[in-house]
Amino acid sequence: MQIRAAVLEEFGQPLVVQDVQLHGPRTGEVLVRLVACGVCHTDMYSASGVDPSGYAPTVLGHEGAGVVEAVGDGVTGLAVGDHVVTLFSPQCRDCVHCRSDQTNICLAIREQQGQGLLPDGSARLARIGDGGEPIRHFMGTSTFAEATVMPEIALAKINPDAPLDRACLFACGLSTGLGAAMNTAQVRPGSFCVVFGAGMVGLGAVAGARLQGAERIVCVDLAPERLALAAGQGATDTLIGGPDAVDQILEMTGGFGADFTFEATGSVAVMRQAVEAARMGWGLCTVTGVAGKGQTLDVVPRLLITGRRIAGSSFGGVKGRDQVPQLVDRYMAGEIDVDAFISHRITLDEVNRGFDLMRAADGIRSIIEF
Ligand SMILES: NC(=O)c1ccc[n+]([C@@H]2O[C@H](COP(=O)([O-])OP(=O)(O)OC[C@H]3O[C@@H](n4cnc5c(N)ncnc54)[C@H](O)[C@@H]3O)[C@@H](O)[C@H]2O)c1
Ligand SMILES: [Zn+2]
Ligand SMILES: [Zn+2]
Repeated sequence: MQIRAAVLEEFGQPLVVQDVQLHGPRTGEVLVRLVACGVCHTDMYSASGVDPSGYAPTVLGHEGAGVVEAVGDGVTGLAVGDHVVTLFSPQCRDCVHCRSDQTNICLAIREQQGQGLLPDGSARLARIGDGGEPIRHFMGTSTFAEATVMPEIALAKINPDAPLDRACLFACGLSTGLGAAMNTAQVRPGSFCVVFGAGMVGLGAVAGARLQGAERIVCVDLAPERLALAAGQGATDTLIGGPDAVDQILEMTGGFGADFTFEATGSVAVMRQAVEAARMGWGLCTVTGVAGKGQTLDVVPRLLITGRRIAGSSFGGVKGRDQVPQLVDRYMAGEIDVDAFISHRITLDEVNRGFDLMRAADGIRSIIEF
């Protein structure tokens, strides 16, 4: 079939929205008609060419939600008409990691996905015309497109009543933040939490800490308008970030620091602050930000010996097929306010405007509607 898609043709250049070919699903694969897709920093980062593992041409996009249009042989868990959220972090339920409750990092298709291919080592995307050159898939998802073909293990089947233009946010940043608090840190009721960063991920962590029953949730950001959003997600206190942030948190906690801290900025300087703001004895710092290539985290080892711990969190430790539907159900039950994150609605043709808005830090998320 022929579809409209936003293709990264050349690093550092705007995406080119054009017609491409999408071949039908093979064994274990599913054809999804996209309804909505969020525009995320990772898309822009890859388009910039700074990411050393990036490749082109490719169809970007990874925060998709849509409806199953066809299934390939051997697909047993999804049927035509099912509503799905795309997972850049799949869940095969069979590999040694999927069988462990200690990680969500599935090993099944990592290598092929990293190369921009589907699990059988080929691409379903191609240029128009007979023998059209293949176009690679991005993050196993390629959702800046009217439709995509993905492995069944990378699709979460959600409540069909959930609006897909909200559910798409559970494909990346929101689940990452919620999961960081709920899965990775497992915030305890009554605890004191600090979240550095009030973007999609940090705001999700604020909401996750609230759902876990935290008593105090301090959100730290540089932008007052983002801190206002944090208050809406359950932050009890907000703080303008900077060199004094750690001292301010120590002051708020009788000199001890917080039970749980979260870093959601991508800055290694802030990661260090998040470690230093964690409590002696049991303070746990959860790092979600993606630092620049080659950057390292500077921590005084004594902070660890005296009981602080550091954890990293990929996709919030969320096992996508099992837990994304549960998070969507909590949204449907009114426990998570997703509307507050949607700042702009755009068309696929306006995808580059989505990047411009992100560069200007204008709003939390732009949603492409198909
Ligand atoms: N671990 C994962 O699986 C995963 C998934 C998605 C995104 N991420 C990463 O998480 C990070 C956050 O993503 P996002 O979409 O929320 O980004 P974002 O840019 O929307 O938010 C980052 C926030 O950090 C704030 N900030 C910057 N410097 C600060 C400082 N010194 N003190 C306090 N706040 C400061 C900014 O004002 C901004 O509001 C990024 O690094 C992103 O790449 C990780
Ligand atoms: Zn993302
Ligand atoms: Zn697996």
